[in-house]
Amino acid sequence: MRKQIAAANWKMNLTIQQGEQLLNDIISKPHELAAHQLAVFAVPFPYLQMAAQKLAGKTNVFVAAQNCSNKKNGAYTGETSVEILQSVGIQYVVLGHSERREYYNESNQFLAEKLDICLANNMKPIFCCGEPFAIREANTQNEFVAKQLDESLFHLTATQLQEVVIAYEPIWAIGTGKTASSAQAQEIHAFIRSHIAATYGVEIAETISILYGGSVKASNAVELFSQTDVDGGLVGGASLIADEFVAIINALS
Ligand code: PGA
Repeated sequence: MRKQIAAANWKMNLTIQQGEQLLNDIISKPHELAAHQLAVFAVPFPYLQMAAQKLAGKTNVFVAAQNCSNKKNGAYTGETSVEILQSVGIQYVVLGHSERREYYNESNQFLAEKLDICLANNMKPIFCCGEPFAIREANTQNEFVAKQLDESLFHLTATQLQEVVIAYEPIWAIGTGKTASSAQAQEIHAFIRSHIAATYGVEIAETISILYGGSVKASNAVELFSQTDVDGGLVGGASLIADEFVAIINALS
């Protein structure tokens, strides 16, 4: 059975005190995770250790970094390597978020390097893809997303690919309150799975978790997550509110 994942992306929000309080609030509320369901918290770098310690021992709950370096180690001031993340207990990293692609010029090729270094070192990537509004208007989103996958992921072996979680996040839906409809989400998720199947085969494609991101809230999570090819969500704004995020965790079907 594919993993279903509710992933919180705090982005550059909250102080460590507020973050700690938020985690306390979330874990104190009733939430249910079946064996194949995970909750992941992508927090700012200085909070990784606090979050990892607080959530240690909680079954199926993990902490993620929001980025990592494409280099192993060395003279790269301001960068954080996979090894550094692992040394503070981190097992997941978000890669290629549209904000990193847009504001920090991260290309598909650059992200391929980051994926390689993660996968060579047992770090699990949550790889983001998704189109801007102009591409959606031109109805060429499938081609756009296929290129992102081809150039960043499709050099991986099948075994490596199975360690990757994909997050489809249409840029026009991120932080805008404008969610893709569940039909739009299902359509492109099914396309992503079929595109993986064309290279790696149906059996491998069926094992890959594909999350939807872009204005996921408690009020739309149940419907989005009930789609056949939607295996959970990557959640920004709503993950900063305990009740919202707990409801999103509980919406994993
Ligand atoms: P949002 O962000 O839920 O605030 O739209 C999602 C994301 O950027 O991962």
